[in-house]
Amino acid sequence: MDKLKQIEKLRDKALAELKRVDSLEAAAAWRSAYLGRKGALTQLLRGLGRVPATERPRLGQLGNELKVDLEEAYAEILPNLKQAALRRSLEMERVDVTLPGRPLGPGRLHLSTQILREIYAIFAQMGFQVEETPEVELDEYNFTLLNIPPYHPARDMWSSFYTTDNRVLLRTHTSPGQIRVMRRYAPEPIRVMLPGKCYRYEQVTARSEIQFHQVEGLAVGRQISMADLKGVLIEFARQMFGEETRVRFRASHFPFTEPSAEMDIECFLCGGQGCRVCKHTGWLEILGSGMVHPQVLTNGGYDPQIFSGFAFGMGPERIAMLKYRIDDIRYFFISDLRFLEQF
Ligand code: DAH
Repeated sequence: MDKLKQIEKLRDKALAELKRVDSLEAAAAWRSAYLGRKGALTQLLRGLGRVPATERPRLGQLGNELKVDLEEAYAEILPNLKQAALRRSLEMERVDVTLPGRPLGPGRLHLSTQILREIYAIFAQMGFQVEETPEVELDEYNFTLLNIPPYHPARDMWSSFYTTDNRVLLRTHTSPGQIRVMRRYAPEPIRVMLPGKCYRYEQVTARSEIQFHQVEGLAVGRQISMADLKGVLIEFARQMFGEETRVRFRASHFPFTEPSAEMDIECFLCGGQGCRVCKHTGWLEILGSGMVHPQVLTNGGYDPQIFSGFAFGMGPERIAMLKYRIDDIRYFFISDLRFLEQF
């Protein structure tokens, strides 16, 4: 077929096909099929090298005119196709502004914090104020000044996380705060609560975590007796667990108190009859307490001939577990919203 005919045929075919193009994708395909580097028109123009020299200029001119015509025809349909594409995407991807948003939870206090605040509120009524003491402690404060010298067997009760400096550890209880506040306030009378995180290097079980909270209570003054200790703690138990709550004090031993006592509340599950939760004793232990040991008073800067005091320590997680019947302490720190959102 001669080149002239080929050019005319190509024009007809290309324009006919362009009429059927109905999307941007099809337009791009059309363009590359005719005008692209490997497109039909490009190939045809390249083939002109082999026609006789006399015909070459004319054919070349016709070929180039066709190229311009096709480019123009293409440019002409493009705006419509773009419009159509835009219209389609607006229809399909429309944002429904009336759709209600997903509510953002306002957040809540962690159960441990809630219980801590309840504890603060109860003791605040009795004149106790909250003080902060260090979470990373000196061995000396955590043990020695509390009458637990190096190699004292009582240190076995607190297997500790030491830092690389073996005089520094994560406190195993809030009791070292007693020394810190006594040294801060001596010889003034004291009534404080010392809350905070504590750490023990122990097996994690349903009843013990390596990280937990404690609240220490400390009262130091000139006329403080065991009766004050009992009165304050009984009042606390009634406010925390209910007016009818029965409590008992049980003799115990802590190196930093003398005498020492643990306080139990009557088992709420069996009403004191004895069951699995209270291990058939009818009682649940909630805190340790005692009269501040004279040596501890001395270490804090108070003369035990003149001053006396009582102290107590409790775990808010344990209180919460008793109050809400939570059977595993590990729930507190695994950040599972199904647990946390219940409180
Ligand atoms: N520190 C003790 C513990 O972690 C609890 C305790 C007992 C604190 C008696 C006291 C206390 O202040 O008087 O087991």
